[in-house]
Amino acid sequence: MTLDNQSTPRPFERKPVILTVDDDANNLAVVRDCLSGFNYTVLVAEDGESAIGRADYARPDLILLDIMMAGMDGYETCRRLKLQESTSDIPVIFMSALAETGHKVHGLAAGAVDYITKPFQQEELLARVGVHLSIRDLNRRLKESNDLLEARVEARTLDLAIANRELEDEIAERQAAQEQLQEQTVILEEKVEELQVAQLALRTSEQKFRAIFDQTFQLIGLTTPEGIMLEVNQTALTFCGATEVEVLNKPFWETPWWNTSPDQHEFVRTAVQRAAAGEFVRFETVYVTPAGVTHHIDFSLKPIKDADNKVVMLIPEGRDITSFKKLEDQLRQSQKMEAIGTLAGGVAHDFNNILTAIMGFAGILNAKLGDSPHAHFADDILAAADRAATLTQSLLAFSRKQVMETKPEEVNEIVRTISKILRRVIGEDIELHCTFAPDELTIMGDCGQIEQVLMNLAVNARDAMPKGGTVSITTERMELTEELIGATLKPGPYAKITISDTGCGIDETTRQRIFEPFFTTKEVGKGTGLGLSIVYGIIKQHGGDVTVYSEVGNGTSFKIYLPLVASVSTRPDIAPLAPVIGGTETILLAEDNDGVRNFMTQALEDFGYQVIEARDGEDALAKYHVNSKRIQLLLLDVVMPRMNGREVYDAIRKEGGQVRVLFSSGYTADIIEQKGILEDGVGFLSKPVTMQVLLGKVREALDH
Ligand SMILES: Nc1ncnc2c1ncn2[C@@H]1O[C@H](COP(=O)(O)OP(=O)(O)OP(=O)(O)O)[C@@H](O)[C@H]1O
Ligand SMILES: [Mg+2]
Repeated sequence: MTLDNQSTPRPFERKPVILTVDDDANNLAVVRDCLSGFNYTVLVAEDGESAIGRADYARPDLILLDIMMAGMDGYETCRRLKLQESTSDIPVIFMSALAETGHKVHGLAAGAVDYITKPFQQEELLARVGVHLSIRDLNRRLKESNDLLEARVEARTLDLAIANRELEDEIAERQAAQEQLQEQTVILEEKVEELQVAQLALRTSEQKFRAIFDQTFQLIGLTTPEGIMLEVNQTALTFCGATEVEVLNKPFWETPWWNTSPDQHEFVRTAVQRAAAGEFVRFETVYVTPAGVTHHIDFSLKPIKDADNKVVMLIPEGRDITSFKKLEDQLRQSQKMEAIGTLAGGVAHDFNNILTAIMGFAGILNAKLGDSPHAHFADDILAAADRAATLTQSLLAFSRKQVMETKPEEVNEIVRTISKILRRVIGEDIELHCTFAPDELTIMGDCGQIEQVLMNLAVNARDAMPKGGTVSITTERMELTEELIGATLKPGPYAKITISDTGCGIDETTRQRIFEPFFTTKEVGKGTGLGLSIVYGIIKQHGGDVTVYSEVGNGTSFKIYLPLVASVSTRPDIAPLAPVIGGTETILLAEDNDGVRNFMTQALEDFGYQVIEARDGEDALAKYHVNSKRIQLLLLDVVMPRMNGREVYDAIRKEGGQVRVLFSSGYTADIIEQKGILEDGVGFLSKPVTMQVLLGKVREALDH
């Protein structure tokens, strides 16, 4: 800060006031006169006391003070003025006649600013007064300026202090806010982290459920209660070869899954309405692929409800049950065949009893007639009965109740052998191609029966190709897994024989029945309808299966599966028959069929035996108790009412009876054995039986 007009005195605001003090009135007048013409207000005082009072009162700008005064001298007055606060800063100029320097020094030491020696020159007085007034004025202005400056500094300092405090407050506030912000940030970061973890878990879970949804075998979707498609899984899309765009946001009934008939749309629309009303709708339907393959679908529409029991969406779900249906068909078919088999077996059994009587009596008749011209009637009866016996044999083959001599056989070998005969059987118009598996295909089987199977199939193929064609026989080894097997086979290694022809083919209705005995489409006299029944029976008896695939107009293919064996075991061969000789022993014959019993009694008695007849098991046991001593052989029919042959034999043995036994049955030994009736070394007679066989077996049993 600079002071204004430091060198040039500024005009006084008021006229400068000069107090002149002198005890000499003349001197006072001189000074006043000297100054008055120069714009000064001149006050006067005649002694020190009044000077101090005046100065205090009037606050002059300058005091001209005489030293030598009566009373208080100038020095003392000056000292007191300097001590008094109100006058201390008023410049004092001594005016004295004392010119020695000592006085001047003394005066300046008392606080004066200048010293004028009397007598003085007016110019000097004016100059000195002017200078000191200027100095005083400058001093005063300097002081004012300083005060102002100080005040400003103070005010500024105060402002600064306030601002500083405000700033500090603000900083503190900001710090608090920042701390709060940091805390919030930490919480927020934790929340974000939690959210991220939750989001990740949600995404993983979503991925998992999406994978399940998409990859399940089931065809699944999601619709609004109105049936608008919201979601669909990959399986369902792949199933009908559609894309999401083609099905999403469309009414469910207008999607490509409902393509079989226009009625389907209306039906599905109604189903959606029912489901939307809260009903669980389920029905079976079909879907036909663009390639024309029909799929059976177990379909359901499930309503999903919220907490208020309001339907919020529908889940359409489809299960492809085509293979299940096929299995069901197969099972039904095999159950039907089983039932027919039981029936055929039963019929064959009863027939065998009747035939035994017919053949037996015809034999006796023949023997008795000797050379009589009527003897040929007996031969004719025997021939007819023989043909009937062949028929019952076929029925037994179908019902799997014929004797089977199983041993390890090589399938390629069987096919190779039979193919030579087949070539002749099928004729020249038909070509025969055989393809053999490179591996050995060993099965446990009856070679003759397998040959019969191939023969029957080849003959059918020939009949299906009156204008010629090709028959192919292929053998392969194959592993049947769970997925490949039908309703009847166990998984494992199999020999597969395929016999295909290029004939007329078989339509679906016919195909359903071809294995039934006596089912034929051939003219009367051309076929009995037993060929395939026999095939079926034999293959089943070998633990295998036979399937057929046919296209009308293109041909037919029969596939035979026979279980392969690793280790093999052979069964004892049936012993050859002993020569026909009679005896004299007593035989207890138990047989419920009158015809058979009569024939057997007759034949045995004719050859010298004693026969005790019984009509059933209980009767046999009673008769044994009476005649036990003389009975040497029990000839027991296995299947009898009340008590079967085996039970009779067991009862006798339990009682300690030691007697030989020969069982007879219309069923074959194999079946009887499977039922646990025969044991090793026990004889068996398979009906129908000729006289020779009967006598031979009886002798053998007695001599055993
Ligand atoms: N390869 C085939 N091609 C066309 N149809 C066949 C074929 N094999 C069998 N069939 C049909 O199955 C029916 C039954 O055959 P199956 O062999 O059981 O009896 P069949 O041949 O009629 O008489 P049989 O064999 O007793 O002389 C036949 O009548 C025929 O309609
Ligand atoms: Mg046939």
